[in-house]
Amino acid sequence: MTVDDTLHITGGVPLYGTVPVRGSKNAVPKLMVAALLTEQPVTIRNVSFVRDIGIVSDLVEALGSTTTTDPAGGVVTITAGDVHAAAQGELAVFHERSRIPVLTCAPLLHRTGRAEIWRPGGCSIGERPVGYHLEVLRAFGATAERTDTGYKLTAPGGLRGAVIDLPFPSVGATEQYLLGAVVAAGDSELRNAATEPEIMDLIGMLQRMGALITVRPGRTLQVTGVHHLRGVDFTAVPDRLEAASWAGLALATDGRITVANVRQGDLSTYLNVYRRAGGDFEFSSDGGEVTFWRERPMPRPLVIETDVHPGFMTDWQPPLVTALTQADGVTVLHETVYEDRLGYTEALRALGAQIQVFTECLGSTPCRFGSRNHRHSAVIVGPAKLQGTDLHIPDLRAGFSYVLAALAAQGTSTISGASLLDRGYENFRSKLLAVGAKLH
Ligand code: EPU
Repeated sequence: MTVDDTLHITGGVPLYGTVPVRGSKNAVPKLMVAALLTEQPVTIRNVSFVRDIGIVSDLVEALGSTTTTDPAGGVVTITAGDVHAAAQGELAVFHERSRIPVLTCAPLLHRTGRAEIWRPGGCSIGERPVGYHLEVLRAFGATAERTDTGYKLTAPGGLRGAVIDLPFPSVGATEQYLLGAVVAAGDSELRNAATEPEIMDLIGMLQRMGALITVRPGRTLQVTGVHHLRGVDFTAVPDRLEAASWAGLALATDGRITVANVRQGDLSTYLNVYRRAGGDFEFSSDGGEVTFWRERPMPRPLVIETDVHPGFMTDWQPPLVTALTQADGVTVLHETVYEDRLGYTEALRALGAQIQVFTECLGSTPCRFGSRNHRHSAVIVGPAKLQGTDLHIPDLRAGFSYVLAALAAQGTSTISGASLLDRGYENFRSKLLAVGAKLH
């Protein structure tokens, strides 16, 4: 189901109910790209049919794969029997709509000797350059030529193993590395790698396909390239970002929301912070479901710093901060992953939240943005009486926060741009109705 573009929400009531969550939006599309590394069928299960799935399906088909999808069952099968390089500009439409197509570079260089990067799309939460990706691909022996619209890459002699040190543990650059190193000639090592659960999921699938990957202590990923990878039938990791979003909604509205299909280990940092914020939770005996609620009359204010895994992840930040507008005291936030992820606080102010943003680092985690005039810290004074208003959604996680704020506010809000939410939340409107949200 596609979310209609405008949501009319009447808030001020606690929400109760169960929300089923499927595979991670930040894992499944990468597993789909990994299917380009083998001629055999790759089946991925537990797929949440968010927008990137359609984009990546069309993309791998444009590159010569056949794809079958079963949205009800949550299954995608890709057979990349005959991958060919795209005609010049053919992939632009995909790059403009999503960040994922950048990751096809390593598999395409391996299978066809050619790839292209167009100015990548995705949420507008910072500059989001591709320099680390290029660093990885060049280390593997690719040549990158700058064009008016992006980069043209070639590797006629194939990819060669390399030792690479990332300046920052970038999720995407680590994925680019894995997708290249598993088929590059010889050994590779990535230092300062990202280790997010979604990356471990990709490593798990590649290993089942025949790859040789070792996770070393201290953010190091060693890989020995293999000549051949085989097909696989793989179940993707559940979406820990969506789970945390619904948890934030329970905290903000003083409701009780159960999220079905979770993995506790992937949420453990979030769960500690949630408890400190005056929330509580209980898992089912098999650990597959978790119920969230508020444990005290008002949430408790916090000091929060976002960080790469295993820190408090940046995508958890907007929904939690929104809930903390209802806390009885002052919350201090330091965003260290994206330089421009606090734009949503302006909309919260329009609803009545008391938030001030700062260019200084309001925290002790080392950060790249401190002396560069980026508004990446915030002070949130609660509890704020929120009042419904008209809002326009600028990016995915901000979008959820607007909905969350509107549901915590008195009166009615009209939220336009809501179709952006289908980038990350499958069946968003019906899930909201299932927890008792008043939508018109
Ligand atoms: N960066 C560079 N150069 C690069 C790549 C990244 O400077 O070549 C910088 C970015 O500008 C950013 C930081 O490194 O400041 C982190 O970026 P990273 O590469 O780790 O992020 P990503 O791979 O582009 C994924 C998720 C994001 C999530 C981040 C961090 C996907 C499709 N996206 O992005 O998810 O915030 O990792 O965990 O997997 C979301 O779900 O809403 C979302 C934005």
